[in-house]
Amino acid sequence: MNATINLEKKHFPVLLNELVNIISPLYGGTFIDCTFGEGGYSKKILENSKNKIIALDRDYEVKNFADKLKIEFNHRFDFYNLKFSDLNKFKTKKPKCIIFDLGYSFNQIKNLEKGLSFQSKSKLNMQMGLNEFSCHEVIHNMKKENLNKIFKFFGDEKYSKKISNKIDRERKKKILKTDDLVRIIKSIKKNKTKINQSTKVFQALRIFVNKEISELISGLINAFNILPIGGAIAVVTFHSIEDKIVKYFFKHYSEDKNYSRYLPSPAKATKYFDLQLKKPIVPSKNEIFLNPQSRSAKLRYAIKIKHNCDFLDFKKKFEYLLNIENLCREI
Ligand SMILES: C[S@@+](CC[C@H](N)C(=O)[O-])C[C@H]1O[C@@H](n2cnc3c(N)ncnc32)[C@H](O)[C@@H]1O
Repeated sequence: MNATINLEKKHFPVLLNELVNIISPLYGGTFIDCTFGEGGYSKKILENSKNKIIALDRDYEVKNFADKLKIEFNHRFDFYNLKFSDLNKFKTKKPKCIIFDLGYSFNQIKNLEKGLSFQSKSKLNMQMGLNEFSCHEVIHNMKKENLNKIFKFFGDEKYSKKISNKIDRERKKKILKTDDLVRIIKSIKKNKTKINQSTKVFQALRIFVNKEISELISGLINAFNILPIGGAIAVVTFHSIEDKIVKYFFKHYSEDKNYSRYLPSPAKATKYFDLQLKKPIVPSKNEIFLNPQSRSAKLRYAIKIKHNCDFLDFKKKFEYLLNIENLCREI
């Protein structure tokens, strides 16, 4: 999502019709909306009177939207201010489908205090909710070498070293705010495209501050563990790191040639998912026209067909990203 905002704009649930098309065969039961946001998905699913929703969001401020749905749908809707890494709490609910719409909402970016927008002049923040530290601590307390790694691995930022060196010089002179960070990045990167120069560094810091890698990995594993056979997981991603993780999770465990390096024999390879779509669903031209922020969205979906997966390959595969996330021990 691009973090420049037009305050006139409103929230559009991304790929909503496409999501409904794939999950509606499962209608008549409990759905878990792991990223409630402004409730676009939940509301649509609740239009079918046979459905119930358990909604989660790490941001307490979405409670206003949740309260409205509670009034309208009463016992068919419950909201919990939790991170989706806590999905295990719903082990007994036998959900039909668990849905993730990753990233942040329009409402969060509009709130300049959260510092997710390039237009913010506030203290560095970037917390979506239930965090352990903010972007202020990252920018002011972490070694420049580690800032470099965060920008490089979580943002794929070519100028990561120059940017972290300049941050290091400037933070010795004053407390840096969000607009100082934007200014530092601009002074290093000449803008040759339509994309804002700060996009990659902001993405990297947001992933780091919100521990988005471990959240996603635990969220997906816990979703699998609480799903009954025949239940589905649907995930909308917005950037390539998220998509790489989700793609591997579904693809690796839906192939019978997923021979694990950690198992004694290739004969033990097992399919845990029925992969419904080989390629992700992406927004139509019309959706991108109405909501340009949707342009990088990808929807992937699979049905669980077997219990008891150890996910060792999955955890190993993304260990290098979890190691970057663990640099926060330094704060
Ligand atoms: C893109 S918005 C979801 C929009 C929603 N589908 C709708 O239709 O309104 C993403 C939401 O997920 C929440 N979120 C992000 N990471 C989360 C996590 N690890 N656990 C719970 N909620 C999370 C954010 O706070 C944000 O409200």
